[in-house]
Amino acid sequence: MLITFEGIDGAGKSTQIAKLVNFLTNEGVDVLSLREPGGTPAAEKIRTILLDNAHKVTPVGELLLFSASRAELVQDVIKPALQEGRTVILDRFFDSTTAYQGYGRGIDLALLQSIISLSTCGLTPDITIYLALEPEEALKRKFAKSSILLEFEGGELDRMERSGIEFYRNVQKGYQEIMRLHPERFVCINALESITVIHHHITKILKERFPR
Ligand code: ADP
Ligand code: TYD
Repeated sequence: MLITFEGIDGAGKSTQIAKLVNFLTNEGVDVLSLREPGGTPAAEKIRTILLDNAHKVTPVGELLLFSASRAELVQDVIKPALQEGRTVILDRFFDSTTAYQGYGRGIDLALLQSIISLSTCGLTPDITIYLALEPEEALKRKFAKSSILLEFEGGELDRMERSGIEFYRNVQKGYQEIMRLHPERFVCINALESITVIHHHITKILKERFPR
C-alpha cells in the first residue's frame, strides 16, 4: 500500500508521518517511510541542488530535477518495497509537482502530467492525506517569526521557501484543484487541529478505508 502526505511547507507532514509510522509499526505493519526529493544517493544529491540557495534554477529545470529524483526513488526503492508487500509512506509525491511547478511556477499542466507519468511509471497512491493550512500560518509555524514570512530574507529559508507568499497561495489553490479532481484518493484534514487530534483522524480514516 502507498500512502502519501501533501501540503505546503510547515503544514505538519513530517510530524504526522513520524506518529503514523510509530502507530503502524506497533500494529505489526511493515512500514517504509521516505521523503521527496531524496531517498537514494543520487536523489539526495539532486535534493541538495534543488534546495540550495547558491543555485539559481529555472522552473523547467526545477520540474526536471524533482522528476529525476522521483524516477530514481520509484524505480530503486518504492516499487521493490511495494512488491515485497511493505506499506510505503511518502512525504510528498507527484501532487507536489502539480501544485508547486504547475500551479506555483505556472508550467503547462498537460506537459507536466506526461513528465509525471514518465517519472512514476504510472504509480498512484492508494490514499493521499492533505494537511490544509493557510500559507501564512504554515510558514509562521516553520520559522516561528512572522516578520520573516513577509520578507523572506531569513537565513534559514531554503531556495523553494524563498519563493514568496504569493507563490504559496498559488500552490494552495493548486492543491485545492487537485483534490477536487481526485476525491477518490484524497482526504483533507484541517491542520489547525492539535497534533494528537490530527493523528487520531488519520488512523481512524485508515482503519475505515483499509480494514484488515
Ligand atoms: P512539514 O513536514 O509539513 O514541513 P512539520 O511536521 O515539520 O511540517 O511541522 C512544522 C512545524 O510545525 C514544526 O515545528 C512542528 O512541531 C509544528 N507542528 C506540526 N503540527 C502542528 C500542529 N498540528 N499544531 C501546531 N504546530 C504543529
Ligand atoms: P522539504 O523540506 O522536504 O519539504 P517541507 O518543507 O514540506 O518539509 O522541501 C521540499 C521542497 O520542495 C518543498 O518546498 C516543496 C518542494 N517540492 C516541489 O516544489 N516539487 C516537488 O515535486 C516536490 C516533491 C517538492
